[in-house]
Amino acid sequence: MKAQLQMPLSLVVTLATALFLASPASLATGDPDIDPPLAPLPPPPAPPDNPITQAKADLGMMLFFDPKLTGDASLSCGDCHDPKQGWGFNDPISRGYPGAVHWRNSQTVVNTAYLSKLFWQGNAKSLEAQAPIANKGAVAGNGEDDVMEARLRQTPYYIEKFREVFGTQQPNLGDAWMAVATFERTLSQQDTPLDRYLAGDLDALSEQAVMGKQLFEGKANCIECHNGSTLTDEKYYNLGVPRPFEWEEMGLNTVTFRWENYAKGVYEKHYRNWKDDAGLYFSSKRPVDVGKHRTAPLRYLVYTAPYMHAGQFYTLEEVIDFYNEGGGENEFTDGTHGLENKTPILKPLNLSDEEKEALVVFLEEISGDEIRMKLPEVPPYGVLPNVPGLTQIRAKRIGLESYLAAAGQQ
Ligand code: HEC
Ligand code: HEC
Repeated sequence: MKAQLQMPLSLVVTLATALFLASPASLATGDPDIDPPLAPLPPPPAPPDNPITQAKADLGMMLFFDPKLTGDASLSCGDCHDPKQGWGFNDPISRGYPGAVHWRNSQTVVNTAYLSKLFWQGNAKSLEAQAPIANKGAVAGNGEDDVMEARLRQTPYYIEKFREVFGTQQPNLGDAWMAVATFERTLSQQDTPLDRYLAGDLDALSEQAVMGKQLFEGKANCIECHNGSTLTDEKYYNLGVPRPFEWEEMGLNTVTFRWENYAKGVYEKHYRNWKDDAGLYFSSKRPVDVGKHRTAPLRYLVYTAPYMHAGQFYTLEEVIDFYNEGGGENEFTDGTHGLENKTPILKPLNLSDEEKEALVVFLEEISGDEIRMKLPEVPPYGVLPNVPGLTQIRAKRIGLESYLAAAGQQ
């Protein structure tokens, strides 16, 4: 993993603007907006009140993998955003809080520093705002503020580190989210073959990938929505992605699906009839937004299968076939509920097998190297007896009795 040190936000913005102005912006077919060209990733931006420092990122890393920040202290961010699973979770639908399952696919946290709309529904506006939503959400972390904060305050390691980083006598939960966001910003990848190619190293991509890139920006029209340095315009579209079977056919998934609709304030008449993910509608409550999702960023894709908001497609080949057919249909595009919200941008592409393969190779090659790291051993509570090498997690694993026996010295 490479930690990126801070660059003033103003400089990042200036650089990005300069890049944008310097390269010819294309006007792809189907939508009159201007599509910024593909661009190398700049250093990760950070909000002025939460600058990136190494010490804060290290603390954030520990918190990211520490289950103290969930309801029953059994699950960490890292359990659903596993470095070995592309910093996401490789089931179509994410695991959930014990006893529950989630209802959407877990997204990678790699390169989220650059996004201003987080989640498939784009409903969190910053990493600082996103982290507590994750760890308090009923089917994700299910944590309670005071309990999570108390756990940090009972952990000598955190008392010391929070004092060092934030200058507080005791850890504050709000600062924990700042540290987690900072750690996530360091998971930014600026040295992929795409970045090198765009910076002028024309050998960085294979010939086939270069052909894929040309299709991406031309005949296949992906650039209309997947553009700029992150390969997303962060706008919302209903592509007609088909409904996953889980929401209707798997007991726990059905419970979560129904509950999410209810909790997000959908009218009862819709709640009883809609069987698909209303996406942006949950935030805006506007009928035109039903079933729209944020354009997904496309860096790091090879590590994050399956794809789309409920993992509807297992492979990139399936994704390309879907677009080649002009997208699909779901109950919010086919008039079932009087809605025809499919984006008019998607049209059949008539790609040859060779062209489809080139697009897949392009997406694979731009994924860059896998970001692996050794998981930290999470710090124990101060109230535990001080047995050398015995952490809270190990105590939990070997069981209370063996733990107490090991702690015999107390
Ligand atoms: C129980 C599993 C689970 C846990 C625990 C969890 N997440 Fe997530 N995460 C998900 C799922 C599923 C999504 C997509 C949810 C959605 O769009 O509604 C997601 C989305 C995200 C995103 C948005 C990425 C994007 O492209 O917009 C970020 C960032 C993130 N999680 C970070 C975290 C952090 C930080 C923590 C710990 C504080 C955490 N998550 C804990 C499952 C989890
Ligand atoms: C009209 C805008 C639009 C166009 C054009 C478009 N996409 Fe997408 N793309 C999206 C949206 C929106 C999503 C998320 C959809 C969802 O989950 O329901 C997405 C998701 C994806 C994903 C899944 C990413 C993940 O992490 O799960 C891939 C891969 C992808 N697009 C590749 C492409 C390729 C390749 C093309 C060109 C052939 C293309 N897209 C054209 C809007 C677009």
